[in-house]
Amino acid sequence: MEYTIDPANMPVGVVGLGLMGCSITACLLMAGHPVIAVAPLAADLQHAAKRITEHLTRSLQEGITTKAPATCLQQLTITESYEQLGHCVLVIECTLENLAIKKSVYEKIEAAISEDALLTSNTSAIPISILQEQVKHPARFFGLHWAEPSHTTRFLEVICGNKSDVAKGEYLYAISHFWGKEPTLVRKDIRGFITNRLMYAMYREAFHLVENGYATIEDVDRACRNNAGYWMTLVGVFRWMDLTGVAAYHTVMKDLFPTLSNTTEVPALIDNLVKAGARGVSNAQGFYDYTPEEARLWEETFAAFSYEIRELALKYPVDVVRKKVAAHNGH
Ligand SMILES: NC(=O)c1ccc[n+]([C@@H]2O[C@H](COP(=O)([O-])OP(=O)(O)OC[C@H]3O[C@@H](n4cnc5c(N)ncnc54)[C@H](O)[C@@H]3O)[C@@H](O)[C@H]2O)c1
Repeated sequence: MEYTIDPANMPVGVVGLGLMGCSITACLLMAGHPVIAVAPLAADLQHAAKRITEHLTRSLQEGITTKAPATCLQQLTITESYEQLGHCVLVIECTLENLAIKKSVYEKIEAAISEDALLTSNTSAIPISILQEQVKHPARFFGLHWAEPSHTTRFLEVICGNKSDVAKGEYLYAISHFWGKEPTLVRKDIRGFITNRLMYAMYREAFHLVENGYATIEDVDRACRNNAGYWMTLVGVFRWMDLTGVAAYHTVMKDLFPTLSNTTEVPALIDNLVKAGARGVSNAQGFYDYTPEEARLWEETFAAFSYEIRELALKYPVDVVRKKVAAHNGH
């Protein structure tokens, strides 16, 4: 179905201005939407404008946008008032991964928006069907799962819950192409959606290898970076098997699958770290030891890398081979 989509006339609300709320806001501004960014906590006001401006400035420098930050910022309202969401056609909730908090936020959002506005959550892993039980109008509710930093990554999952109107999901999927994404529409709800199911299977196996003394944390990370990390920006797992020979995977699966970890417990290694207060580089406490300077430099290095890998990824869009065939045939 063809949709008429004009971002300049489609105000979008972002509720929750932490790490992801700020990068999502930057992405939407660059796509041309007016954005109403709601700070549920006053603490967000201390950093949100600065972070969003930094994303916009860097994006101009890196060629992601040709729009000056000041032009984008004219379209941004940062507020503590949910009432300002009144004209939004879409609201993206981006608050802490906590059901009670999200429920209280939905009540405030739904009191402000019109009945035909779409309401979405950037939840990492709460099933959309469970979130739908917390809202008044479940048919217009979807998961909209971004990857940090949202203004550079192409990833986006649009997820339907049991009560979502799939036609509205298709509309959301169409809009998200205006945000520079290569989105996926998950038509049936499943916990963890696509990427988190894949990634958590890998995390579980990584803990299994380390906790049982097969390899160190450094070894697992090095193997991961230099194997999957080498090809995953070009192809996904199925194309990878096509590229490297399907039959061999069939043989290996028969013998290897029965030996993979299928524990349902949270590993002690991460349990102990979290109980000791570790949050990762954000507080210089994680699986590795960091000085405060190293922690800061990891954050900066990740930011720099995300712009560079984006450049590379853009040279290899999903239809790269189809384009080559068309060029070869003179189209
Ligand atoms: N960080 C990631 O890489 C990532 C990736 C995909 C999805 N997500 C999801 O996005 C959402 C936000 O994650 P984040 O990384 O931006 O978190 P964050 O901790 O940076 O920000 C959380 C925000 O939640 C809001 N908040 C906190 N306490 C609140 C309360 N009591 N009432 C109302 N609002 C409150 C605040 O606006 C705060 O800034 C979560 O659901 C998370 O699972 C995160």
